[in-house]
Amino acid sequence: MGEIYVYHDLFGYILKMSPDILAFLERFEGDRVLPEEVCRDNANAFGEMTPESFVGIFLQFGCLIIPGYDQLKDLWDYIPVRSRWNVWTRVGGTLTFYAAWGERELAKVALTEAETAIWDRIDGEAKLDDLAADFGKPAVSELVKKLAHNSVQALKLSALPMSFYKHKQHMKPPYLTSTMPYAPYDAKTDTLPPGFEDMFSPEGYYRHDVSDADAQFDHQETTLSHLFRRPHPALRGRTYGETLIDALKRRWASLEVGSGGKVKILEIGGGLGWVARHVTEALEKFGTEVTYHILELSPTLAAKQRENTAGLSVTIFEGDALTADLPGDDYDLVISNEMIGDLTAIKLTHAQLGMGGEEGIDDDAFEAGLDTLGIAGELVKKHTVPIGDAPDPFYLNVGAWQLIERLWGAIKPGGHAILTEFGELGRYPVLSTQLDHPELSIHFGQLTIVARSVGFETDYEFVMDLIDMNREMKGLATTRSYFRALTAALADHDIALDKFGYTKPMFLNLLGDKLRPGKTLGEIEYDNLEDRLMGLVPHEFKALLLTKPLSH
Ligand SMILES: C[S@@+](CC[C@H](N)C(=O)[O-])C[C@H]1O[C@@H](n2cnc3c(N)ncnc32)[C@H](O)[C@@H]1O
Repeated sequence: MGEIYVYHDLFGYILKMSPDILAFLERFEGDRVLPEEVCRDNANAFGEMTPESFVGIFLQFGCLIIPGYDQLKDLWDYIPVRSRWNVWTRVGGTLTFYAAWGERELAKVALTEAETAIWDRIDGEAKLDDLAADFGKPAVSELVKKLAHNSVQALKLSALPMSFYKHKQHMKPPYLTSTMPYAPYDAKTDTLPPGFEDMFSPEGYYRHDVSDADAQFDHQETTLSHLFRRPHPALRGRTYGETLIDALKRRWASLEVGSGGKVKILEIGGGLGWVARHVTEALEKFGTEVTYHILELSPTLAAKQRENTAGLSVTIFEGDALTADLPGDDYDLVISNEMIGDLTAIKLTHAQLGMGGEEGIDDDAFEAGLDTLGIAGELVKKHTVPIGDAPDPFYLNVGAWQLIERLWGAIKPGGHAILTEFGELGRYPVLSTQLDHPELSIHFGQLTIVARSVGFETDYEFVMDLIDMNREMKGLATTRSYFRALTAALADHDIALDKFGYTKPMFLNLLGDKLRPGKTLGEIEYDNLEDRLMGLVPHEFKALLLTKPLSH
């Protein structure tokens, strides 16, 4: 079931509520409601918790007030604090805020000169009362209403000054640094949205085709290779594809990539076609004869790949990597870049498999449970995938395992494959919240076990090490909502921002003399490239490297 966050339009509080608690809160609406009656009606509704304890929380966070009470009266002891991920421009002495939370329309809020002067005084220390002494209560409260509102979320009110938290960041209430990028929800008229986990499609995301190929990678599902699709200083002036093939040729001498060499490559799930383009161009530059096939599920992306690889020896085949005939065999190299997270995964519980009882795993129930699971159970048995340490519930990356089985037949003896995705060696798949749709990470330990059982020799690396990314550099940090707002702010100044791995100098270069961070554009954050680049966390991406031994 979906979770609901209640946002306070004046204080900026964010309260997570289950639907039944929200329904309880809604019961207080109206002038003649008696709290005792509402509590009595709900006396046993919340298990151990009494309804009165929730009323206390509602009062504390200003969700309940006495009818007719003016909450503006309570403001003056509070300290206004600037939120994180604000986007503003300052032109001719006045500020304009841009916000685009979640899928909501862009909100553009222009301040007057007087309002801008109030904003400039906000330092996380002065109380609203102090500001009111200089600017008057009506002007200050109007500004709070404007900027704390859920459509903007540029301002929060804190009971304590920020200096109090200087060496105690962990004590800061989360609402002061969080934002709420979710769709609006009206309990009276809207049906409850599905929970994040329920939105996860075990059949894989790309089965409904993509409508706009470029927007897909700029807004919905950015990949590391997309951020490095143009030459990048962190890759010594090269693209992701160029660096990748360079690393693979140094690792695997058997790839005949020198002058006069011949290489046959299959890419599974080619995105916009940039990896294919840059790998092929780099190989052809060495004088290598390249045959490059892409197997792609989405017709829209396949069309884009044809466009972006035009003139190169790249052929695109449409089909599902788990069911379609593979376009060829005897491949020297298979590349699957950031796509196995899109393949089928299966969710299981301990109860289904007789696990987690007092005496540990019940072997008979476990075996019997596996037999009811179809392909997932078959593969666990066949490859002896250890799942005794699984949390409850847990996911298995069954689609990725099937892909590895299929690759065995497509790769020539002595040939190789690289599969990259976000995930960990020992962590069960977790749903990522970075993308617009829930996607699972990969349990690389289990994937490795399957690959070895199939017959491959395996290796495991951080992608950023494989491509020798310069980790010391700083890059522009964004969230999805912030990126949309920043794009709109820059567009108003004739600057086109796209989803690319901007380093600080690159971003300053993009701005030219039109805007200056901190002066006429805010708030711009840079982070270490390995920790955050645009919305991605590069150190989360790993590569499984496979070699099919020559003896096969
Ligand atoms: C996240 S994108 C990665 C694209 C590209 N490799 C990159 O690095 O930017 C996943 C790609 O895999 C494709 N894909 C997803 N499921 C697939 C399947 N079952 N068979 C073939 N392609 C698939 C998608 O359409 C998309 O092109």
